[in-house]
Amino acid sequence: MKKIQIAVDGPASSGKSTVAKIVARNLDLIYLDTGAMYRAATFVALQKETEDATKIIEYIKNHPLSFANRENGQEVFLGSDNVTEVIRTNEVTNAVSKISAISEIREFMVAEQQRIANQGGIIMDGRDIGTVVLPRADLKIFLIASVDERAERRYKENLSKGIPTDLERLKIEIAERDHKDSTREVSPLKQADDAVLLDSTGKTINDVVNFIEVKARELM
Ligand code: DC
Repeated sequence: MKKIQIAVDGPASSGKSTVAKIVARNLDLIYLDTGAMYRAATFVALQKETEDATKIIEYIKNHPLSFANRENGQEVFLGSDNVTEVIRTNEVTNAVSKISAISEIREFMVAEQQRIANQGGIIMDGRDIGTVVLPRADLKIFLIASVDERAERRYKENLSKGIPTDLERLKIEIAERDHKDSTREVSPLKQADDAVLLDSTGKTINDVVNFIEVKARELM
C-alpha cells in the first residue's frame, strides 16, 4: 500500500482532530495534532513568562515534544512532562494565536512536522498543513462548520468534562480566534487551491470520516 499523506486544515473546533484520529486508526496512519505542538510552545511561553522565540525553542529542544497513543486519545509530552491537559486550559487557548504567529516558532514546528511525516503514512491536522507543511499531500481537506455549531460542540465537550462554560462567550472566542488565525502574516489559515472543502455543519462525525476515507482509499 502507498504511504499516503492527508492534510486536514480548518478553523478552531471544526472537528479536525476528532475526525483525523478515527481516520488514522482505520487506515493505519500516523496521526499528528499540530495544534497541540503550538499549544505546548504556548505553555512554555506562559510558564517561562517569555515571548522570546529563541528561549521557547531552546526549551523544547531540551525537552522534546512526543506523543503517545492511548485508548482514549493521544497524550502529549514535553520532555518527560505529560502536558496533555494543561495545553487545553483557557489560559493556553487564549494565548496560542499570539505564540503561533511568531515566524521562528512556526519554522521550528514545520521542520519537526515534516520530519515526522517522513516516517510513514500520515494524517496531520492544523491550519497550514496543505499550504505549507505538506504542499504535496495526496489528499487535502479543508473542514469548516458554522461558528454556532462549533461553539455548541465545544460547549458540550466542556460540560462532559465538568468545565463550566458560557456558550455566548465561546462563540465570541471562536470567532476571534478565526479572525486572528486567518489574518496573521505568517501562514494564515487559508484553503489550499487543491483542497476539498467539506462543511460539517449538520453532519455527523461518521459522515465526515466516511467522506475522507472513501477519497483516501482511492489513492492508496
Ligand atoms: O487546533 P487547535 O485549536 O488545537 O490549535 C491551537 C492554535 O494553534 C490555533 O489557534 C492555531 C494554531 N495552529 C497553527 O497556527 N498552525 C497549525 N498548523 C495548527 C494550529
